[in-house]
Amino acid sequence: MVICEAKDYKDLSRKAANIISAQVIMKPDAVLGLATGSSPEGMYAQLVEWYNKGDVDFSRIRTVNLDEYRGLAKENEQSYDYFMHKHFFDKVNIDVNNTNLPNGLAEDPEEECRRYDALIESLGGVDLQLLGMGHNGHIGFNEPGDFFDKGTHCVDLQPSTIEANKRFFESEDDVPKQAYTMGIGTIMKAKKILVIVSGADKAEILKKALYGPVTPKVPASILQMHPDVTVIADKAALSAGE
Ligand code: GLP
Repeated sequence: MVICEAKDYKDLSRKAANIISAQVIMKPDAVLGLATGSSPEGMYAQLVEWYNKGDVDFSRIRTVNLDEYRGLAKENEQSYDYFMHKHFFDKVNIDVNNTNLPNGLAEDPEEECRRYDALIESLGGVDLQLLGMGHNGHIGFNEPGDFFDKGTHCVDLQPSTIEANKRFFESEDDVPKQAYTMGIGTIMKAKKILVIVSGADKAEILKKALYGPVTPKVPASILQMHPDVTVIADKAALSAGE
């Protein structure tokens, strides 16, 4: 695992965008596993800037997103689909037909999870998976629990996750209570993983994830077992030490 300290959020965003760009240059039809949340916003903005300068071409890239709220339509401004269009897909030359997210409105959740896993498989797996990390150590929406989930599944969100995400909704009641997420098994199958973590409020959980025991109580700790992980964290996120 490579742990790279960024000076601040801007530096973190540039470093992460550099890694994504390098992947796209080295393999123009790469499968990128993408993430949402506030952590990658700066990175997407940086990629858009470089795209506008002609430095990077996304025309052949394929994407699969980590997660999506259950019950939200694509058009809902809080859906992850909407986020991806707003911050990235609509601003670069990516072919929208090559972008994929779980369908929040799928009628049969089990069938939707099977569809998503089969889709990832049919693309040949994920070349580079981007991850943020929740305050309780969740990755995607894999919440702390008693075991690591394997494939894509539908989860009940924990009260702390609903609380953390309510800032994007009008009220806490509007936050969906369930979400689709790639499983830990799906994430661990990615050839490379890039994790970005920002802010002092994530310092304690980041320390546990990087240096603590590998346990489903801290889902991100499983990343210690992956052969090719790069963590980019700013000074504040790394302030709890080892
Ligand atoms: C959300 C998302 C995760 C994200 C995490 C952190 O609930 N499902 O994919 O990494 O929480 O979000 P943020 O970057 O806004 O702190």
